[in-house]
Amino acid sequence: MWLLTAGTFFAVLGAGSTQLVFNAVDLVEKYACNDTVVLPCIVINLNDNNDSSMHVSWKRQGQVIFSFNGPEQHIYRHDSVPSANFLSKMDLSKGIASLRLKNAEATDGNYSCEVTELNREGETKMELRTHMVDSCDEEKPPTPVDKCERQFDLIQSIVIAVLLVFIIVLCWAQLGVIAFKCETVRKKKKHITIACSIFTVIAVVAVVLFIQDGSISMNQIGLAFTVIPAGMLMVLQYSIFKMVLDDLTHKGYALISFQVVGYIVAVVGFALSVSACPSVLLSVVIAGLVVMAVADLLALVYVYSLLKTETESTAEMSDV
Ligand SMILES: *[C@@H]1O[C@H](CO)[C@@H](O)[C@H](O)[C@H]1NC(C)=O
Ligand SMILES: *[C@@H]1O[C@H](CO)[C@@H](O)[C@H](O)[C@H]1NC(C)=O
Ligand SMILES: *[C@@H]1O[C@H](CO)[C@@H](O)[C@H](O)[C@H]1NC(C)=O
Repeated sequence: MWLLTAGTFFAVLGAGSTQLVFNAVDLVEKYACNDTVVLPCIVINLNDNNDSSMHVSWKRQGQVIFSFNGPEQHIYRHDSVPSANFLSKMDLSKGIASLRLKNAEATDGNYSCEVTELNREGETKMELRTHMVDSCDEEKPPTPVDKCERQFDLIQSIVIAVLLVFIIVLCWAQLGVIAFKCETVRKKKKHITIACSIFTVIAVVAVVLFIQDGSISMNQIGLAFTVIPAGMLMVLQYSIFKMVLDDLTHKGYALISFQVVGYIVAVVGFALSVSACPSVLLSVVIAGLVVMAVADLLALVYVYSLLKTETESTAEMSDV
C-alpha cells in the first residue's frame, strides 16, 4: 500500500506538476442487460476544483465523440452518441469526468478520456468490451444472473422457435388434409392459404430477429412477432372449422378455446419476459406455445377424422 502510494507520488513528481493523475481502469465490460454504460474517468489531483477551468475530451478509436469546454460551458456530442453525458456534471469539479451513454451507442473499442485543468493535463485509456458468456444459467455461480450476454436465454429461445415451427407445420398440415379430402372448398381455401403464408413469413423473420445475437431491442421485437401474430391462428382455425363443418360443434369450440387459453398464457409470458432483463419467465411463453401446439395437433386429428367419415359416407352414397 505504502509502495503504491509512494509510486503514485513519484509518478506525479516525475511528470512535474503539469500532469493530471487518474484512477485508471484498463478494461470495462458491459453486459446485454446494462441499460446504460459508464466509462470511468476519475482525476485524483485536481487543484482548482472548478469546471470553468477544465476541458474534457472523450475519444473512441481516436475520434472525438464527446467534449466539454469549461470556459464556455459547452458540450459537444458526436452524432453516433446522442445519449452521451457526464455521469454527474456536478461532480466534474471534483475530478469525475466519467461518461454515461446508452448501451447500444457504446460500441466496443478503445476509449480515451483527456482532461485539462488550466495548464495541467492528462489522459486515461480503457478498452470497452461486451462480456461473452454461454448463457444466463443460474447454476453456474461465476455468472451472476444479471450479467449475461443475452436478455433471453438461448436454449429457451431455441425451444420457442422450434415450437413455432411445429405450429406452422400443423397449420399447413390442416390445409393439406383439407386439400386432399375435399374438392368443393377450393375457393375458400385460398384465403386460408394466404393467411397461413403471411403467418409463416412473419414467423421466419421473427425467429431470426429473436435468436440472433446483438441488439437487445431486435431480440425483443423478434419475440413480439413470434408471440403476438400467433393470435391469427385462432381465426384461421375458426375459418377451417367453418369450412369443414357447417355448424361449429362443441368439440370445435373446445379446441379453439384451448388455443385461446394457450395464446393468453403466451402473451402474458411475453409481457413478463420482455420487461425483465435478464428475462426469467420465458418458460411461461413456452408453456403457452405448448398448449397451442397441442390444441393444433388435436384440431388436425379432428379435421382429419371429420373429413375421413365424410368421404366414406360420400363413397357409400355413390355406391348406392
Ligand atoms: C453493467 O451492469 C453491471 C451490473 O448491474 C454493473 O456492475 C456494471 O458496472 C455495468 N457495466 C457498465 C459498463 O456500466
Ligand atoms: C469558477 O471559475 C469561474 C471563472 O473563473 C468563477 O466565475 C466561478 O465563481 C468559479 N466557481 C467556483 C465555484 O469557484
Ligand atoms: C484496443 O487496444 C488494445 C491494446 O492496445 C488492442 O489489443 C485491441 O485490439 C484494441 N481494440 C480495438 C477494438 O481496436
